[in-house]
Amino acid sequence: MIRVSKTLTDYELIDCGNKEKLERWKNIVLRRPDPTAIWPRNETISLWNHPDAHYHRSKAGGGSWQTIKKIPDSWQIKTNGLLFKVSPTDFKHTGLFPEQAVNWEWMNHLIQKNKDRDIKVLNLFAYTGGATLACSKAGASEVVHVDAAKHMVKWAQENAQLNQLQNNKIRFIVDDCVKFVQREIRRGRKYDAIIMDPPSYGRGPSNELWKIEEQLVNLIQLSLQLLSDQPLFFLVNSYTTALSAQTIHNIMNECVKKKLNFGVIDSSEIGLQCINSDLVLPCGVSGRWCEHERDL
Ligand SMILES: C[S@@+](CC[C@H](N)C(=O)[O-])C[C@H]1O[C@@H](n2cnc3c(N)ncnc32)[C@H](O)[C@@H]1O
Repeated sequence: MIRVSKTLTDYELIDCGNKEKLERWKNIVLRRPDPTAIWPRNETISLWNHPDAHYHRSKAGGGSWQTIKKIPDSWQIKTNGLLFKVSPTDFKHTGLFPEQAVNWEWMNHLIQKNKDRDIKVLNLFAYTGGATLACSKAGASEVVHVDAAKHMVKWAQENAQLNQLQNNKIRFIVDDCVKFVQREIRRGRKYDAIIMDPPSYGRGPSNELWKIEEQLVNLIQLSLQLLSDQPLFFLVNSYTTALSAQTIHNIMNECVKKKLNFGVIDSSEIGLQCINSDLVLPCGVSGRWCEHERDL
C-alpha cells in the first residue's frame, strides 16, 4: 500500500521519469533529480524543456540550479491550511517535503479528536517544521522541535510566524536528537506524541555522527521512555531506500508495539500522485503507531 495526500494545493507533481521530477510550486516550475524515478518520462509534456529552474547534478558531487526564468530567492506556498517558505537550496531541496502532508493529516486527525486533553508533541529531525506546524495548528498544547541545523530551525521559526503560530507553545531547539532525548529522559519529561524523520546520514551540532541503520532502533527505544501514560501516536518516517516498509514494520512491531503492549501499527510507503497520469512517485516509508485501528 502507498499513502498519498489528496489535499495538496499550491504544489503539483507534473511528471516524473528518467531520474527526474517536474513540479509546480505555486506558479514556479522546478525540474530536479529523483533517483527513484527510473521509468521513462512523458516526453509530450513540454514543460520538461521550459521549467523556471533546473537542478543539474555535478560529476564532482552536489550540483547547482540553472535558472531559466528569473525566480525569487524564496516564495510562499499554501497547502493543507499551512503557509510555507520555499526556496531552491544548494542541495536541490526546497525546504518542504510535500509527501509528508499525508502524515500531517493523520496527526491533525488524532490531535483534533483529543482536543479535550493537553497533547505534548516531540518532533525529532524536525527540519523546517512541516509536522511542527501541523501539530501546533491542530491544537497541541506544546510542540518541541529539535534539529541539528541552526538555519533549518530558523527557517521553521519563520514558517511558524507565517502561520501566526509564534504565540503557540513551540520550543525550537538546535541539538543532536540522540543527546536531546537522553537529556529529556534524565529530566523526567514526558510526551504524548513522538515524530521522527531521520536522514540516512547526518551530523549533530557538535559533529555527532548519525547513521540510520546503526542508531534508529536505539533512538526509538530511548524515545519510548519519554512517552506519557496516555500516548497518542508514534511516527517514524524514512527516506532511506535500504529501509523497506517491511523493515519499518518489523522495527515498529518489535520496538514499539511489543514494548507498549497495546495499540496498532501500520507501515506503508508514502508518495506523490502525478497530476497528468496515474503514476505515483514513491518518496519513503512511514511507520505509525496509535491506539485504535480506526485511527490508522
Ligand atoms: C530528512 S530531514 C527531515 C524532514 C522533515 N521531517 C519534514 O518533513 O519536513 C532531516 C533533518 O535531520 C537533521 N539532522 C541530521 N542529523 C541530525 C542529528 N544528529 N540530530 C538532529 N538533527 C539532525 C537535518 O538537519 C535535517 O533537517
